Amino acid sequence: MPQEPFAFAGDSAAKSRISALILGAGKGVRMNSRLPKVLHPIGNRPMVLYPLNAALAAGAGTCVVVVGPGMADVAEAVAPVPTAVQAEPRGTADAVKPARGAIGRDADTVLILFGDTPLIFPQTLEAMIARRREGGHAVVVLGFRPTEPGGYGRLVQGGDGMLEAIVEARDATAEQREIGLCNSGVMAVDGAILFDLVDAVHNDNAKGEYYLTDIVGIARRHGRTSSVIEAGADELLGINSREELAAAERIFQQRMRRAAMAGGATLTDPDSVWFSYDTVLGRDVTVGPQVVFGPGVVVGDDVEIGGFCHIEGAALDRGATVGPFARLRPGADLREGAKVGNFVEVKNAVLKPGARANHLAYIGDAEIGAGANIGAGTITCNYDGFRKARTVIGDRAFIGSNSALVAPVTIGERAIVGAGSTIDRDVEADALALTRAEHTAVPRAAEKIRRRKAGDAPESQGGKK
Ligand code: UD1
Ligand code: CA
Repeated sequence: MPQEPFAFAGDSAAKSRISALILGAGKGVRMNSRLPKVLHPIGNRPMVLYPLNAALAAGAGTCVVVVGPGMADVAEAVAPVPTAVQAEPRGTADAVKPARGAIGRDADTVLILFGDTPLIFPQTLEAMIARRREGGHAVVVLGFRPTEPGGYGRLVQGGDGMLEAIVEARDATAEQREIGLCNSGVMAVDGAILFDLVDAVHNDNAKGEYYLTDIVGIARRHGRTSSVIEAGADELLGINSREELAAAERIFQQRMRRAAMAGGATLTDPDSVWFSYDTVLGRDVTVGPQVVFGPGVVVGDDVEIGGFCHIEGAALDRGATVGPFARLRPGADLREGAKVGNFVEVKNAVLKPGARANHLAYIGDAEIGAGANIGAGTITCNYDGFRKARTVIGDRAFIGSNSALVAPVTIGERAIVGAGSTIDRDVEADALALTRAEHTAVPRAAEKIRRRKAGDAPESQGGKK
């Protein structure tokens, strides 16, 4: 599922001496969900993959995700990154212990991140690693100043700016609660002593939990320093509820919109365009309002996407035109200059260069030849209730409006299908195929019917007044 992992793993000796732990064993009660909290999606992928990928991008050679018992779905989502199981959620220090075997003592720095804090940037982690190495600190903590410090742990600094302790809000004195600088939860810890520090943590506090935050005070008592790096609150939003999930999604979408515009795309109404984590837009792409990109969309240069389109698992080559009001489903493959207009649905189908389906059509399990024209109301009948079958349409063929193409069926190159036809046999190249009931017209019959129905007042039925 994560696409980056092995691109970064071990790409330099120094980097591979960084390990990372992503804590995700908490139940996430406030989400009120059957799904583990860290699997709730942001930009259409599980949130735990964001801190994981940030750690990998910052150079972590070994990563372990800590999960609770019965969280096989989390293990599946993060694979091939391994997981370690914390038997009971006894606190963030206890959560580190199951990773002991996988992390060992070789790492010079161990990053600890939370699976519910997805908006972190790799550069921030890199700055923490650098600070820890340069200062020889036991711990570097990532701090931030939320508008509502509320339940966050407070960072207690000495006169020299060094971090002396982290105090959980519940255990803090009134004076300590006045501190605006808070613990994001993200830490960079000296790998040689991490597990010694964690083993020394007790649970004599308000919650009766083993607090990872205590390692700062413990290190200090052993003569080791700790330091703080600050980052923006937008980067460190922790997700505990659906409301916070929505807030994180908004921040993520703003980043995607900005990146799309910086990459040379015009978004006429950026706030109404929704991206997936992997959406790729080329240069000089135009995207109208209310467009939703599901996962797996790659858009080439000079593509125009009108408003109100829903696009997922689709490739749009250079100069393709889509919408407004089009739906491209997985496997839609629009080649150079192809056009898909309003109320057209495309699934698992290639439209070769210059092919057009401008209005009201369903194109599924099909191959549409270069320059072919698909008339309004055309349906590829790809499913007979038992299995799917393919429709193949040759180059420059013309499918008249309101035609039903009953697959499997092949329409030859340059063939013409007359409007309103139901085609269930192959059509040769250059042929005309037409299936229509006889045209019948009875002169004056309409007039007679009107008279009969309306008695002697034919004018009352519309027409002349
Ligand atoms: C924690 C910090 C607090 C900080 C805040 C930032 C501690 C003691 N407190 O508090 O200083 O301001 O995060 O958001 O560290 N987890 C486990 N196993 C456990 C407990 C937690 O894996 O036994 C995981 C959770 O899944 C979650 C993360 O650790 O991803 C944080 O746990 P949470 O209970 O949310 O900590 P906070 O009370 O928010
Ligand atoms: Ca939390």
